[in-house]
Amino acid sequence: MNQRPDYPARAPWSIETIPYHLLSPAALAEDRELFYLVASASFLEITTDVYTRNLVQFFEGDREVVDWLKGQWEREELQHGAALRRYVETAWPDFPWEEAYRRFHAEFMQFCAIEQLEPTRGQEMAARCVVETGTAAFYRTLAAVSPEPVLRQIASLIASDEVRHYKHFYRYFSRYRASERLSRGHVLKTLWTRVFEVDDEDALYAFKHVFIAANPGVTFRLADYRAFRRSVRKRGRASFPAAMATRMLVKPLGLGATLGRIVLPAMTAATRLLMMA
Ligand SMILES: [Fe+2]
Ligand SMILES: [Fe+2]
Repeated sequence: MNQRPDYPARAPWSIETIPYHLLSPAALAEDRELFYLVASASFLEITTDVYTRNLVQFFEGDREVVDWLKGQWEREELQHGAALRRYVETAWPDFPWEEAYRRFHAEFMQFCAIEQLEPTRGQEMAARCVVETGTAAFYRTLAAVSPEPVLRQIASLIASDEVRHYKHFYRYFSRYRASERLSRGHVLKTLWTRVFEVDDEDALYAFKHVFIAANPGVTFRLADYRAFRRSVRKRGRASFPAAMATRMLVKPLGLGATLGRIVLPAMTAATRLLMMA
């Protein structure tokens, strides 16, 4: 019997419905930080095809997961990239997006290419939950700090997609946790590593190529990236959805209601500190 997929045939929103024509480039011309942020995010989202190939290979044989990754997840992540790209090209029309992206992609594939996969499928699903938590929190924050309504709309739509992605990965994680008999210690180790120890090299490369294309003749220095990050964190700190991010991060640990109520407030404070420090 053919099982119907548990996701709609179409994405819940479309780039065609975004009112880009309402954007006034003059209002954003001076906001370089927002430009770097949105352009870098567009690079990372559009590179999802690389991750999809990698994940599909890792979950080969699991029809439900592979169908969802190829049928919905990749499509939606690519749409995030396309929506952000169009925003960049509308708001900052002088930026040579295509050329900058080509350079970013070449370096990304050559040096860091693909993030390390976890040793088991269940642990990889826990890691994917962390990634989706990070993106959901990022776009919630972007929606809150954006001075411009069209970007607020795009960021809110993307944030909802990322939360939904989390729910899918969490469901698959639960299935593998049972079949692999993953202990809470295993899961905690994966979550910890993902949150605190994985380098954000892809974000660094994205920023670097946005910077180089936007500042011809200027040498890129790591200090430029560090200064950008510090400034972005400062701008987003008050709006960062720490409670939501913490709930999503600790859910795979299955702490139970009582323990969760005790642990969550402290974890929320820690999440705010560590993710936005
Ligand atoms: Fe995304
Ligand atoms: Fe996502």
